[in-house]
Amino acid sequence: MTKEVKRYTITAALPYTNGPVHIGHLAGVYIPSDIYARFLRSNKKDVVFVCGSDEHGVPITISAKKEGVAPQQVVDKYHKVIGDAFKGLGISFDIYHRTSDKLHHETASSFFDHLHKNNLFVEKVTEQYFDEKENQFLADRYITGTCPYCKSEEAYGDQCEACGASLSATDLIEPKSALSGNKPLMKETKHWFLPLNTYEAWLKEWILEGHKSDWKSNVYGQCKSWLDQGLQPRAVTRDLDWGIPVPVKGAEGKVLYVWFDAPIGYISATKQWAKDNGKDWAPYWKSEDTKLVHFIGKDNIVFHCVIFPSMLKAHGGYILPDNVPANEFLNLEGAKISTSRNWAVWLHEYLEDFSDMQDAMRYVLCATAPESKDNDFTWKDFQTRNNSELVGIYGNFINRVLVLTHKYYGGLTPERSVLSDDDRSVISELKLFPDKIAKAIHAYRFREAVMEVINLARLGNKYLAEEEPWKLVKTDEARTKTIMNVALQVAANLSIISEPFMPFSARKLGAMLGLGQLTWKDAGSDALLIQGSQIEKAELLFRKIEDTEIENQLKKLEASKLNNQ
Ligand code: 2FM
Ligand code: ZN
Repeated sequence: MTKEVKRYTITAALPYTNGPVHIGHLAGVYIPSDIYARFLRSNKKDVVFVCGSDEHGVPITISAKKEGVAPQQVVDKYHKVIGDAFKGLGISFDIYHRTSDKLHHETASSFFDHLHKNNLFVEKVTEQYFDEKENQFLADRYITGTCPYCKSEEAYGDQCEACGASLSATDLIEPKSALSGNKPLMKETKHWFLPLNTYEAWLKEWILEGHKSDWKSNVYGQCKSWLDQGLQPRAVTRDLDWGIPVPVKGAEGKVLYVWFDAPIGYISATKQWAKDNGKDWAPYWKSEDTKLVHFIGKDNIVFHCVIFPSMLKAHGGYILPDNVPANEFLNLEGAKISTSRNWAVWLHEYLEDFSDMQDAMRYVLCATAPESKDNDFTWKDFQTRNNSELVGIYGNFINRVLVLTHKYYGGLTPERSVLSDDDRSVISELKLFPDKIAKAIHAYRFREAVMEVINLARLGNKYLAEEEPWKLVKTDEARTKTIMNVALQVAANLSIISEPFMPFSARKLGAMLGLGQLTWKDAGSDALLIQGSQIEKAELLFRKIEDTEIENQLKKLEASKLNNQ
């Protein structure tokens, strides 16, 4: 049964604020979510698109220790670097919040308090790993070892990034302290556990029965394998000094587990946005006619499909995600992207090196996104796709239409007379694009959707090549005008349908064509430009990438490789 949707709450995983974001994050989470949000806005839907910095947890304290600074300094620095870079790439969050914000502390704290007061946690004293030398309990990433499932030797105490398994520190084979490298001791400590086992039957019904056909198979498959293994109670507090204090008497020195507070960050971000815009946040999280969609990478599936929904269910009054379209991982030049080995293309550096080319990266990462399996980014492929698809097909079509309109008609849209069969066939094909793209976006198939944008430009090129207006201009004025009018309508359509994917170029094209604020429902029309409307001079929409630019990027990566030998 499909429910009536009145509004959309779109979340993009909150990045850990211990380093900048890279192309893997973009392809996995931020580009697809931005396309989705822009597409819905173009359809005049009520949308809130939230994100923010994930500022708690061990990744932050480890980085702070390494850099010899306070955790707050680390998060302040990267909150700005990440926020600015997202803006630079045109990621259109309605709010980029942060979990160190007071409003978030209050929201997460009162969420915990509600569950605590309703006896929904199990309080247990258990033995946890402890580093005697550092005099510290070893939560999450403070402990590493071999994953019991895939045998990766780099698994963390709460998760194995290689296979995505959600772990408890005691599951690790040959655990060692990430602080001293020592073998840890066991020591007793009290914590609060969310009894996931009590939600297992409900989760099975909700996911395994309810979302078999509409969730992506990679997401559904991971959920099924966890649920089939059986769920255990999961500690939601930690012995750490960085995070949100556990709001219970006698819990001094303990904080909320980062994966308890971070997803609540989506709610806090929505609250802040609502406050800033004079709106009510509650319907975006509590109304059944809201569609909640979480965009994440595959290593976050368990937290968004099992743990957070169980928290929401336990609390009561919240809606559940309609979908969690997680992507797989993007590799770089054949190797896993790695922050510690500096094997990455960092967004803020890309924006410096290719300051005029936001859409090229947006396009390539969308066209090659790891939607159903891991994929590889190579600089060569980036160059080829940019030069042949954006410059060679899309840019070339626009350039030809605009240059000819100026050459023949001084930049004024020519009038259309009798349509030929060819014209009619292009117009009827043109009408199909908005729906084809919409369907693909609603199914979270963004690669397919962006290919249709290029296909429309292809259609335009083919039309011009077949009709050859340049051969008719002297002999058949009416026919030439009609061809150019139809070609201009195709160009105007390209501006609308490209906007979610390539907003910078779409805007530029819209301005060149003198289009006003058009929306998705205008797309498909063959009358977007009226006769006599002024077309600006052609400006380059996309530019070619030279071999030297690619060589420079490869040299950068080569230097990282040498540094790590
Ligand atoms: O994997 C990560 O980068 C996490 N910081 C994502 C958190 S998503 C959330 F907030 F739930
Ligand atoms: Zn593993």
